[in-house]
Amino acid sequence: MTFPKNFLWGGATAANQFEGGYDKGGRGLSSLDMVTNGSINELRQITRSTISDKYYPNRKASDFYHHYKEDIALLAEMGIMIFRMSISWSRIFPKGIENTPNEEGLKFYDNVFDELKKYNIEPLVTISHFDIPLNLVEKYNGWASSEVIDLYLKYCEIIFKRYKNKVNYWITFNEINAGVTGVSSYQGLGIRNEGTISYSDVEDDPQIRLQALHYQFVAAAKAVVMGHEINPNFKIGCMIGSSICYPYTCHPKDIIHAQERNQLYNYYCADVQVRGEYPYYAKRIWDNENVSLHITKNDEEILKKGKADFLAISYYATMCVSATQTGESALANLNLDTLRNPYLEKTDWDWVIDPDGLRFTLNEMYARYQIPLMVVENGLSAYDVLDENMEIHDPYRVEYFKAHIRAMNEAIEDGVDLRAYTTWAPIDLVSAITGEMKKRYGFIYVDFDDYGNGTGKRYKKDSYYWYKKVIASNGESL
Ligand code: BG6
Repeated sequence: MTFPKNFLWGGATAANQFEGGYDKGGRGLSSLDMVTNGSINELRQITRSTISDKYYPNRKASDFYHHYKEDIALLAEMGIMIFRMSISWSRIFPKGIENTPNEEGLKFYDNVFDELKKYNIEPLVTISHFDIPLNLVEKYNGWASSEVIDLYLKYCEIIFKRYKNKVNYWITFNEINAGVTGVSSYQGLGIRNEGTISYSDVEDDPQIRLQALHYQFVAAAKAVVMGHEINPNFKIGCMIGSSICYPYTCHPKDIIHAQERNQLYNYYCADVQVRGEYPYYAKRIWDNENVSLHITKNDEEILKKGKADFLAISYYATMCVSATQTGESALANLNLDTLRNPYLEKTDWDWVIDPDGLRFTLNEMYARYQIPLMVVENGLSAYDVLDENMEIHDPYRVEYFKAHIRAMNEAIEDGVDLRAYTTWAPIDLVSAITGEMKKRYGFIYVDFDDYGNGTGKRYKKDSYYWYKKVIASNGESL
């Protein structure tokens, strides 16, 4: 294995799934605090108010809020060099609209960054990882309103200035392309329909959704410009959830269909954020969706000025699509147009395992954009068992990572400029899609169940010791 000398090995988390402390330190309610738990068969519900017999797992999450020192010490002992985390917007601006930020919230992240610094761990901060202050959902219907752009920028200005000597790497929005994939996008956009709804019941309105996404592009571009003014050394990236679509067969209609899906799911957002303008095929997408976007001259200028410094991707699976075949669908929970790939194994949660797809994806992205790449999420969810010796044996996770690290290495050998790898998630946390805790990704086990019961104690899994060796050997020792 030949990883570059300064390759950054790390782990990735998100405030809404990891931090907890939802009612501590002056934090306001966030959009994700109103989402109940679900399972592989049962979709999560979004409720307008708190329903007493429902559980809202993001509120407590893994309680990093109270465990951050211990967690960072465990990560440091594992040798990680970069820690991806997000700031909870409603911890800084509880309602999103205040004139002054919440000092206690700012102080919490000062403490976290100082703790990371103690161990020479570089923070990689996602500014908005699917969450937004709940008040902005209620007042403006989230990103459906352009008012939210300035509120996001106010939040960016505060954190850029406050942490300008503590944070070098930023990501403007987590998986911004979730906004193009129909109903599952409503999480990131903070848009609600009337009444109590589940994700599956959201009535999709492409006009609202794609316009909201445009507001996020403008906000992100303005944030890039502002961030560089505050600290010219900042590296501010964009991020997409990559799930390349393979044609299900070599029928030319399937090839075209896969190309169209890739344009929509994988490239539409990154084209705007990396190249600074909407791609040539955007108009066709808007026409197909019967959408007419309001894009001003100023918007066009700012998109050009605020191009991303790097492209971050998450990578879990590829998809198969077809215009000619029907078959068993995959990723049913996400309502995407995708068929089961007969050549690939799948996880307990029905996601295909495709390490070659990671090499392919990295090459596709690099060929198109030619800017530094980071893989900021990749990991295996599994039902881990804490045995009577308080040990967790997870050889399946080691196998998964070995294959994906080899694939990344192949991509680097192919010539891809890949700078960092942050696994999802080094410490167990709440699943975004199902809200379960038992859908575990970590090298470190957190003793909470799906309802937040348990000691919250942390236990090293077998994979912890394995990843430690991988990092120490810069990927040589798999
Ligand atoms: C990514 C998200 O889409 O997938 C993460 O950025 C999420 O927030 C991850 O946790 C895995 O999904 P899940 O549902 O297994 O947690």
